[in-house]
Amino acid sequence: MAIKLNEKYLKGFVTEAELDEVKADTAKAIKSIAARDGEGNDYLGWIDLPVNYDKDEFAAIKKAAEKIKNSCDIFVVIGIGGSYLGARAAIEFIKSPLYNNMKKDTPDIYFAGNGLSGTALEELLAICEGKDICVNVISKSGTTTEPAIAFRVFRDLLEKKYGEQGAKERIFATTDKAKGSLKTLATEKGYQTFVVPDDVGGRYSVLTAVGLLPIAVAGCDIDALMKGAADAREAYNGKVGTDCERYAIIRNCLHRKGKDIEILACYQSFFTMTAEWWKQLYGESEGKDGKGIYPASVIFSTDLHSMGQMIQEGKRNIFETVVDIKNTGASVTVPSDEANLDGLGFIAGQSLDSVNFKAFQATALAHCDGGVPNIVLELDEKSEYDFGYMVYFFEMACAISGYTLGVNPFNQPGVESYKKNMYALLGKPGAENEARRAELLARLEG
Ligand code: PA5
Repeated sequence: MAIKLNEKYLKGFVTEAELDEVKADTAKAIKSIAARDGEGNDYLGWIDLPVNYDKDEFAAIKKAAEKIKNSCDIFVVIGIGGSYLGARAAIEFIKSPLYNNMKKDTPDIYFAGNGLSGTALEELLAICEGKDICVNVISKSGTTTEPAIAFRVFRDLLEKKYGEQGAKERIFATTDKAKGSLKTLATEKGYQTFVVPDDVGGRYSVLTAVGLLPIAVAGCDIDALMKGAADAREAYNGKVGTDCERYAIIRNCLHRKGKDIEILACYQSFFTMTAEWWKQLYGESEGKDGKGIYPASVIFSTDLHSMGQMIQEGKRNIFETVVDIKNTGASVTVPSDEANLDGLGFIAGQSLDSVNFKAFQATALAHCDGGVPNIVLELDEKSEYDFGYMVYFFEMACAISGYTLGVNPFNQPGVESYKKNMYALLGKPGAENEARRAELLARLEG
C-alpha cells in the first residue's frame, strides 16, 4: 500500500456521524463505477488500463523511446491539458524539475503547445538551434488549436532541417485511432502513431501512450509505473472502506460543511507539476452545474512565505490535503559550524528532510489552530511505482467524489466556451463562427 491516509489533523473538524452521512453516497458511487452504469460511463477505460492495456503498443512505446533517446539532443513534447500535464508531472516527480540540467544519457525534454505565448515558443526555438530534435505531438481530438500551432512550427523546422523523409523518422503522433486533423496529417505524412483509447478522457490518460512515451524517453521505468497503478486498482476498484474512498468522503464532508477550496500541499518542489495535473483532474471533473470544490495548490515551505498568511488567517472556506512523501532518497544535512554565527547549531547534522518534516508538523498544527483542516496522504517514496499508485488513487477518488457531488466527472462541456469565442474572433470560417463574431465584436466595441 503506497498511500496511507492520516486523519490526525482532522480532529474537531468532522465527526464520524457527519462522515457516515457521505458514506452512503460514496458507496453508491463505487458501485456505479464498478457496474459502469453512471453518467459518462463511456469514459471509464482508465479503470482497467493498468492491466488491460495494448501490450503491443506498450512494446512499441519502449522501442520508440529507445529510438528517440538515440537520435536527438532535444525531445519536444507538444500537447495541452490532459495531453501534457501527466507526462510532465511524472518526469518532474520521478526524475527532477531540473531534469534538463542534470547529467544523463537521455535527451532534454521541453513541453510546447500548452499555451499561445509567442515568447515561450521563440525561446524554445532558440534553444533548439544547432541541436538534433525529435517531436511527439499529442492531441486526443487532433483539433486543439494550441498544440496544432506549435506542431505546424516544429514540423516546418524539422522538414527544413532533415527533409520530409528525415522529419518523418523524428515525428511521433499520439492521437485518436481514426479521427481528427492530426490523424489525417500523420497518415498522410507516414508518422509513427500511438493511440489514445476512445474510452479514456484527456485528464485520465497519463497511463496511455499520452504519458508513457515521454516518460519512457526520460528514462523512467514504465513497467514499475504500471505495476503501481495495477496494485492501486486491485486495492480500490469496486471496494468500499479503503483510504481512497475515505479521502472522497472527507473532502465531500468538509465541502458540505462550507469548505469550498481544497489546497493540495506538498513539501517537495518535485511535486509542483503533479499538483498541476491534480488540479486539472479535479477542476475539470468536478467544476460544473454550479458545483465543485475549487482545487488549488501550494509547495511548502516556499509558499508559506507568500500564501501562508491567507491560509492561516484568511476566509475560512479552505481545507488542505497534504501529500507527505516519506522517502525521497535525499541525504543532504545541515552542516556543522563551530562558530555558529548564523545560530543554526541546534539543527546541525540533521537531514533537510527531517527539518522539512518538522516544518510540516508545525504548519499542520498551526493551520488546524487557524481553522484549516488537514487531510494527510502519506506516500511511501519518490519512485515510478508510487507515482503510478498515486495517479490511480487520485483518479478513482475523483470519480467517486464527482458522483458523490452529483456531477458527471468525465465530461468538460465548459471548456468549449472560450474555444468558440476564440474561433469566432480569429475569423475561422463557418456560419456559426461568423454570427458569433458579429455579436462578440459588438460587445467588445460597446
Ligand atoms: O481532459 C481533457 O479532456 C482536456 O484537458 C484535454 O486533454 C485538452 O483540452 C487537450 O485536448 P486534446 O488532447 O484533444 O488536444
